[in-house]
Amino acid sequence: MSEMSLLRTEGLAKHFGGVAAVDSVDFGVNAGEIMGLVGPNGSGKTTVLNMLSGFLKPDGGKVWFDGREVTHLSTVQLARLGLLRMFQMTRVFTRISSFDNLLVAGMGMGLTEKEAGLRAGALLEELTLTPVQYLDAGSLSGGQRKLLEFGMCFIEPPRIALLDEPFAAVHPVMRETMADFIRRRNTQGQTFILVSHDMPIVVDLCQRSVCMNLGKVIAVGPTRAVLESTPVIEAYLGSSSHV
Ligand SMILES: Nc1ncnc2c1ncn2[C@@H]1O[C@H](COP(=O)(O)OP(=O)(O)O)[C@@H](O)[C@H]1O
Ligand SMILES: [Mg+2]
Repeated sequence: MSEMSLLRTEGLAKHFGGVAAVDSVDFGVNAGEIMGLVGPNGSGKTTVLNMLSGFLKPDGGKVWFDGREVTHLSTVQLARLGLLRMFQMTRVFTRISSFDNLLVAGMGMGLTEKEAGLRAGALLEELTLTPVQYLDAGSLSGGQRKLLEFGMCFIEPPRIALLDEPFAAVHPVMRETMADFIRRRNTQGQTFILVSHDMPIVVDLCQRSVCMNLGKVIAVGPTRAVLESTPVIEAYLGSSSHV
């Protein structure tokens, strides 16, 4: 991994009881890339994102962000520095409109009402939500809500956006809208870590990927090479004893 990494982990570890959910994980994320984080269910991907965003305290190891050690900072401190996790669960207020949800999110990030309103309008347009922007967010479809969550995460774009299975259970049309959004923002310089089981999208979006299995990194490199490597194929098959 290069010294130029925007984010870097060193020996990152987390145990739950006897389970080594994350076991001495080292990787780097370069500024401006979409880094894929893949691996079978239970391999430790969500636990890594939770530690990077401060929702879980590591048992061991370090996290470096933009040249500074951030291992023990709180979620709020990390979000201020620009390490922001998008939630799998929805954090949308259901009884106010999508527009107002974005307004509240923006003002919560310290924007003026005017600036938040301008950004909200632009994001709703970009996310194809303009036709429903004044409806209660509770009446949106699951996919529309997911798009709104993207908007809330990007009202003040983070330095690194951590996305945990954003495409899961989302209608293919909206999945495409999300992929377009990620691609467009990346072209403008946005850095992402993307956890997804949707391999065609991972291959399409992620220049580089890290694959985990049983808490450990088992492959790193260009996404296609990682997915086609023997340890990764064996991990997805369930066990190397099949070979
Ligand atoms: N809060 C928790 N308490 C106990 N075990 C957990 C907890 N969170 C995750 N685990 C365990 O840690 C391992 C990694 O889980 P997770 O990070 O969710 O994997 P992934 O996101 O790759 O599916 C799994 O064995 C899982 O059962
Ligand atoms: Mg997970």
